[in-house]
Amino acid sequence: KIAELIETQTPLSHWPTEFFQVQDNIQHKHILLGEPLEEGLAIRVMLARGTDATLAEIEKSGLRGCGGAGFKTATKWAFCRNTHADERYVVCNADEGEPGTFKDRVLLQSYADLVFEGMTVCARIIGAHQGFLYLRGEYRYLLQPLEAVLAKRREQGLLGEQILGNPNFSFDIKIHLGAGAYVCGAELALIESLEGKRGVPRNRPPFPVTQGYLNKPTVVNNVETFALAARIAVYGGDGFAALGTKQSKGTKLLSISGDCLRPGIYEFPFGVSVREVLEACGAQDTQAVQISGAAGTCLSAKEFDRKIAFEDVATGGSVMIFNRQRDLLEVVRNFAHFFVHESCGFCTPCRVGTSLLKNLVEKVYTGHGTADDLKDMSHISQILKTASHCGLGQTASNHIADTLKKFPEVYRKRLLVEADFEPAFDLDSAL
Ligand code: NAI
Repeated sequence: KIAELIETQTPLSHWPTEFFQVQDNIQHKHILLGEPLEEGLAIRVMLARGTDATLAEIEKSGLRGCGGAGFKTATKWAFCRNTHADERYVVCNADEGEPGTFKDRVLLQSYADLVFEGMTVCARIIGAHQGFLYLRGEYRYLLQPLEAVLAKRREQGLLGEQILGNPNFSFDIKIHLGAGAYVCGAELALIESLEGKRGVPRNRPPFPVTQGYLNKPTVVNNVETFALAARIAVYGGDGFAALGTKQSKGTKLLSISGDCLRPGIYEFPFGVSVREVLEACGAQDTQAVQISGAAGTCLSAKEFDRKIAFEDVATGGSVMIFNRQRDLLEVVRNFAHFFVHESCGFCTPCRVGTSLLKNLVEKVYTGHGTADDLKDMSHISQILKTASHCGLGQTASNHIADTLKKFPEVYRKRLLVEADFEPAFDLDSAL
């Protein structure tokens, strides 16, 4: 069976996929949320195929990081492998803290073997002996079931010393529980936290592939990336690359929430339009869609034909839907409070800027704001974006900048003197 898998470049039609219907005439395929893989199969196929050939399949697949940024997975693994060192590490980023994102939770609940399998394949390719699953504090309830999966895999010879009887293949995984800080999802804050320090992101470069955990070369990937890598290790890269768009191959898991009839986890091929997503989950009368969480992009109805893909709207997987009955300023207010709470306080633009923004949003929300306050909001948003130390601060004002630009009436109708708004303030030039 293994030889057959390796010899035939398994076409997509032979992947263990399931069809699902997005529209009457369009069918898409689940390739991640299909049948669970037979335990150990990815490792067995990888050992038979060889590490170089397995990495070549991942390269061929075009797989890109699923946490949101989309760095090429094969490139990351090759960088790490080629960095001279006496030890290397594999880290699975399961600190899924972006509001509205819950797809990794589902993978960890229902496909944990696939995730651990992907980590083990990565370890063999880069030459690591220790891996960590950094689990967000709020997912503590998953700790015990995940530990049970790890224990079972050790018994099966899929983790620990001499994996599947190979004398020079040892690798194990520890679960490290976070303590509830959103910033620890940023890979270099995560690594600091893993080392027992405060979760303040280190400067990059150096990137983790050269200096990560304990300053050793480290691959940090999202849960979904490892799960997909395991599937690709078995079925090869061609089938995966047959789906998606030119720069975004394969499929993407989306966590869909908000005003729709069928919220939940969906798997779509890259290139699906926002409109198709809305139709699939039964959203009606939609005012705005927040893609990629609080730190992401707010799309207005004019933009619903845009595509989910790295070349258009990139996402870590969060899709929050707001219909026309929603007060968007309430949403903005909620996000503004979130960022004040989650700023680690290390750099001034983020520590002070998020608080100033929250106060201004409150002022407008309670009907005491003026057009000058909107101008200040836009100015502070810009400072956060350009002067913050890490991604948290750099994206903490996106929701404000986006809604000021695309939904000015949401603010305008709350101002103390509504008429002030237009003559005093040209939003486009301010942004
Ligand atoms: P990034 O683009 O800076 O880096 C992406 C990855 O590529 C990292 O692992 C980085 O180490 C690696 N990389 C980039 N350039 C490299 C180079 N020259 N050499 C070697 N490795 C390199 O993005 P970042 O800041 O790591 O992540 C931002 C993303 O995280 C955003 O897209 C955001 O949507 C997402 N995010 C996801 C959350 C979630 O809960 N899933 C929460 C918050 C943000």
